[in-house]
Amino acid sequence: MSEYVIRPVQASDTDTVERMMALSDMCLGTGLGPVTRSQMLHDLADPAFAAFAACSAKDGAVLGVAEVRVLDTERYQQLVSTLPPGTLPARKDGDRLGWLGNEAVHPSHRRRGIGGRLRDVMLDWLRDRGCTAVYTLHWLSSPTSSSLPLLVAAGFTVVGVLPEYWTPTSLEAEGSRCLHCGPQCHCTAYLMHLPHL
Ligand SMILES: CC(C)(COP(=O)(O)OP(=O)(O)OC[C@H]1O[C@@H](n2cnc3c(N)ncnc32)[C@H](O)[C@@H]1OP(=O)(O)O)[C@@H](O)C(=O)NCCC(=O)NCCS
Repeated sequence: MSEYVIRPVQASDTDTVERMMALSDMCLGTGLGPVTRSQMLHDLADPAFAAFAACSAKDGAVLGVAEVRVLDTERYQQLVSTLPPGTLPARKDGDRLGWLGNEAVHPSHRRRGIGGRLRDVMLDWLRDRGCTAVYTLHWLSSPTSSSLPLLVAAGFTVVGVLPEYWTPTSLEAEGSRCLHCGPQCHCTAYLMHLPHL
């Protein structure tokens, strides 16, 4: 039997939401994504959004988390507005796009396939909702714990390199903290695209 199960997180499962947020804070830092409890609960009520948790089959501990959403026109525009002009094309009518959000696996459970399973569950979720292409912003966390190989293995390519991408957000978001840079984030983001889901 597998040592963990992956399941969708429900807003009513406050214990799992709490553990999920704690893991996300530990692995990614705080305040630089949809990472406040109230925002997560708000997002979980949206049918265009899902969060998945890899939970220990033994004691239910949350070992990994991932977030995914269908990218509607408004959110696509929001994304475009944070990018240098021309980075992304105008959205075509009828495009059904997906978005991979944060993904994190507890440091003592990495390199056992949990991150890859979470990625596959997210891509299946988007496929089931009719998405035919996917975007994500990759954060180069560290050479040994980056999700880049997992994304490349699934067919994603880099379509933009964005230095200091999260700096404005980190200045605006009170109490935010990047795991590497502290209160002011200077990390580079890679905009990645999977053209055929
Ligand atoms: C990125 C991250 C989610 C990957 O999680 P993971 O559970 O270690 O991922 P996997 O185990 O599926 O795959 C990672 C590597 O382990 C390898 N692996 C998978 N199963 C393995 C096993 N049983 N034994 C040894 N290696 C294994 C994979 O082939 C992959 O290797 P590669 O990088 O050389 O291609 C995790 O490292 C993490 O939380 N990083 C910090 C946060 C972060 O950067 N998140 C992404 C940005 S939002």
